[in-house]
Amino acid sequence: MTAQLIDGKALAAQVRAEVAARAAALTAAGRQPALAVILVGDNAASQVYVRNKVAACAHAGIRSIHETCAADLREGELLARIHALNQDPAVHGILVQLPLPPHIDAQRVIEAISPLKDVDGFHVASAGALMVGREGFRPCTPLGCMRMLDHIGMRDLRGRHAVVVGRSNIVGKPLALMLLAANATVTIAHSGTADLAATCREADVLVAAVGRPRLITGAMVKPGAVVLDVGINRLEDGRLCGDVDFETAARVAGWITPVPGGVGPMTIAMLLANTVQACARA
Ligand code: GUN
Repeated sequence: MTAQLIDGKALAAQVRAEVAARAAALTAAGRQPALAVILVGDNAASQVYVRNKVAACAHAGIRSIHETCAADLREGELLARIHALNQDPAVHGILVQLPLPPHIDAQRVIEAISPLKDVDGFHVASAGALMVGREGFRPCTPLGCMRMLDHIGMRDLRGRHAVVVGRSNIVGKPLALMLLAANATVTIAHSGTADLAATCREADVLVAAVGRPRLITGAMVKPGAVVLDVGINRLEDGRLCGDVDFETAARVAGWITPVPGGVGPMTIAMLLANTVQACARA
């Protein structure tokens, strides 16, 4: 391996320590940051994610309100609960864990959250604020990627080409806008892009967020590039792997994130950061 590792676990711990210090100061001033986390149904993966978020809040001194609702909860009831949390001045962030059961319109639910409490950054108002460069909450995974770039001294990306493979509303698209705001030249590619390998080889910063195990191989990486792997895929043998073939890519890249222990831990850390920010702004 020639690439240097970007240790997401260590960097996330640093972010969490910063968040804890800010949370302690707000609490001392009589305003403890609080995050409401709503889980609908019994999706096993979602239960793990929610448990991790609640535990992370506790470690950072953020109060969490964890609500679990039955899978047959009516959309109207969920919307009413969100409206009540919007009105509650002691709640600063609201997160509804996705996916929601199919009878509930997830986008309608997200739009019901006050943009002032949208710590996931999924509301159209948050997306619009990112688009036009205004203050607003940024989605946590892309924010974590930007923090990683900052950490390795790549805050300003002027003159660099960033290629984001993946076009989801919660990672690919917002990350492309953040990279653009950091002055990069940005390409959004996806699994259907013609000659994806050639496009990737143009990248000084290559981000994989498509959900395809080991799609990006070393032959697709420009020597010395920064490779951020957002993918978390479960292999048949139960092991986790990213969208990047780590072994071959690490021989070519300058910097690379592992899976697990890369971008993943940053997501929760940035959620905590957004929650403290929401409290400080309230
Ligand atoms: N499901 C998977 N990732 C996320 C996330 O970041 N936020 C929410 N609300 N649900 C998710």
